[in-house]
Amino acid sequence: MVEVRMRVNGATATLDIEPQVSLLDALREHLGLTGAKKGCAQGACGACTVLADGERIVSCLALAVQYEEREITTVEGLADGERLHPLQAAFIAHDGLQCGYCTPGQLCSAIGMLAEHRAGAPSAVTEPPAARDRAAGLPEAELSEAELSEAEIRERMSGNLCRCGAYNGIVAAIRDVAAMGEETGR
Ligand code: FES
Ligand code: FES
Repeated sequence: MVEVRMRVNGATATLDIEPQVSLLDALREHLGLTGAKKGCAQGACGACTVLADGERIVSCLALAVQYEEREITTVEGLADGERLHPLQAAFIAHDGLQCGYCTPGQLCSAIGMLAEHRAGAPSAVTEPPAARDRAAGLPEAELSEAELSEAEIRERMSGNLCRCGAYNGIVAAIRDVAAMGEETGR
C-alpha cells in the first residue's frame, strides 16, 4: 500500500491504495466521487474525464500515485454551491444530455478544451492562421485567434463519446459558453 495525497475539488484527500489503482477507481471507490464514469476503462470513450491542474485527462488510464499533490477537479467540483457552472446550465438549456452517463466527462472535457483553445492550441481542423487570415482578407491588426466553430468543437470533443447521440445539444452548449467567455476550470 502507498499513501497518496492530492487536492480533490478543493479539499485535501489522503488515500492508502495499492500502486496499480487508477485515478478513476481512487475517485470512485475510495473517495466516493462517482460522477466520473467507467465506460470503457481503456481510454476510448471519455466518460471518466476529469481535470488535473486544469488539464483534461482520462482518469481510467492514469495511476492515482502519479497525481500526488496535484489538483483534481471532478464534475462534483464544478458548481459553486447551488450555482451551476455556466457549462452545466448551458447543457440543461440545450438538452445536451439524455441518459447523462457521458455528461460528467463531457463537462470536464469541455472545460479543459476551452482552456486549450484560449491558450491557442490548434486542433486537427484548425487552419494555419496565415492561410485563414489571407483568405479572409484581414489586415494584420484585425487578426484574431481561431474561432471556436462547430467543426472545431466537434473535433476537439471527439474523444468524448455519447451513446445517446446528444451531440447537437452538447456543441450548442459549448458554443454558448465560449461566446460568454465564462469558461473556467478549477
Ligand atoms: S472509461 Fe476512461 S476513456 Fe472510457
Ligand atoms: S447522454 Fe447518454 S451517453 Fe451521452
